[in-house]
Amino acid sequence: MRHKPVVVGIDGSPAADIAIKWAAAEAASLRCNLRMLHAVAAHEAASSAGEVVYRAVRLARGLAPGIEIDTRIDKGTPSTVLVKASSDAEVVVIGSRGLGVMAGALVGATGLDLAANARCPVVVVRPDLAEPDGTRVVIGYDGSPAGDTALDYGIDYARRHNLAVRVVAAQPTGTELHRITEDQLREAVHKRDGHDAELIQITGHPAEHILRLSSDADLIILGARGRGGFAGMLIGSVSQTVLHHADCPVAIIPAAAIGG
Ligand SMILES: Nc1ncnc2c1ncn2[C@@H]1O[C@H](COP(=O)(O)OP(=O)(O)OP(=O)(O)O)[C@@H](O)[C@H]1O
Ligand SMILES: [Mg+2]
Repeated sequence: MRHKPVVVGIDGSPAADIAIKWAAAEAASLRCNLRMLHAVAAHEAASSAGEVVYRAVRLARGLAPGIEIDTRIDKGTPSTVLVKASSDAEVVVIGSRGLGVMAGALVGATGLDLAANARCPVVVVRPDLAEPDGTRVVIGYDGSPAGDTALDYGIDYARRHNLAVRVVAAQPTGTELHRITEDQLREAVHKRDGHDAELIQITGHPAEHILRLSSDADLIILGARGRGGFAGMLIGSVSQTVLHHADCPVAIIPAAAIGG
């Protein structure tokens, strides 16, 4: 029994409904509460916020009758409200498209901000893929602390959901920078009891390989940052590319969630 809740951001959009579905199943798997959080701007009407929450609770109850649900309506932007809530959460779940101005992009400002700053893993669920039925998790490993936490999270998730584990360590072409040896990869995975994991070491663009090797994935898990990168960017180029192009939910481990 874990004591922190699964937190899901809700806004009444179809994308949020898919996020609720994922979050309710995860709360049932973790045997923890489901916390539904609706962020409202200062000028927003309380009645419409109440309606959003009421609908969300009804949906979650229908999906996972056994779980305990609590709800919060909080003033602020979705990302500030969700980052704050992430201090007391197992995982924060959002849909990749909300109702905002970024509606055309797969992952909007809320998703990127949250992936960069949350204090627990962040799962982004795509609204157009309502029924993920993958058989494995795919973990991107680059030897960074975030990559290690991605292994922890991914192996635990796979165990609870009875999924195979595939770990991908890609070596960008034409550079020896940050090369992971086969021994390092095996040790990192076996340390976490991932003895059945399939380890893939491959040369080429990490995001391209991860996407290509995820056609049968139920969840992709990556760090927000890796071993390279510029401090100024919200999240790294691999995690950003995968977030935008994945055909399944993606879990991102923010810097502030490493080791937790
Ligand atoms: N070579 C790789 N092979 C497998 N997974 C990778 C690789 N590089 C990155 N990843 C995954 O993506 C996550 C984010 O790393 P990313 O490379 O996007 O950020 P960064 O290194 O900080 O910045 P950038 O590489 O864009 O300069 C890592 O924590 C890891 O999970
Ligand atoms: Mg990198």
